[in-house]
Amino acid sequence: MTKLAFFISGTGGNALNLARACKDGRVAGEPVLVVASTPKAGGLARLEGIPSQVVERSAFKSDEAFSEVCYDAAEAAGATVICLAGWLKRLWVPKRWEGRILNIHPGLLPRFGGAGMYGMHVHRAVLAAGERESGCTVHLVDNEFDHGRVLLERRVPVLPGDTAETLQARVYAEEMKAYPEALAAFLRERG
Ligand code: GRF
Repeated sequence: MTKLAFFISGTGGNALNLARACKDGRVAGEPVLVVASTPKAGGLARLEGIPSQVVERSAFKSDEAFSEVCYDAAEAAGATVICLAGWLKRLWVPKRWEGRILNIHPGLLPRFGGAGMYGMHVHRAVLAAGERESGCTVHLVDNEFDHGRVLLERRVPVLPGDTAETLQARVYAEEMKAYPEALAAFLRERG
């Protein structure tokens, strides 16, 4: 069973969803650690059954130093795969972690990704561009924002009268399916 670390900054909804998928056997993984970038992350309470650690960016001089402490925590817990789930800090990816960090993005890549393109900003940008479709993307993480290999994409229509909030809800419902599905396939392929 692959040991997993979930990195969160917010509600932890995706991490909780992955934890449930592990529990009921849809994902061959065992969550061993939650790393939160702030003690205020609501997900810390929701993921209470999993050991957790808070690592705050403000305590470090560089992205590299911050990231190394996060990896130290993951490695100490025995995790070999990291799932970013609403993680809002820049994570520097050293060689040894390449290809083992996944992220979910609430938009279609590469068009609706990049610096500043997160959360509601994505849905507002999709509406402003007059797109007919949006969706979510599970991808590997490298040292460029929203850039690594795409593992899975799920699309939704943009409907007349959509607001950023209604679109967010439709995309989020797909995230709940996409992340477990992509992680399960990723772990199967890794063997
Ligand atoms: C999700 O929309 C995810 O795509 C993005 O951040 C949000 C996190 O939501 N990366 P939650 O904290 O998992 O509810």
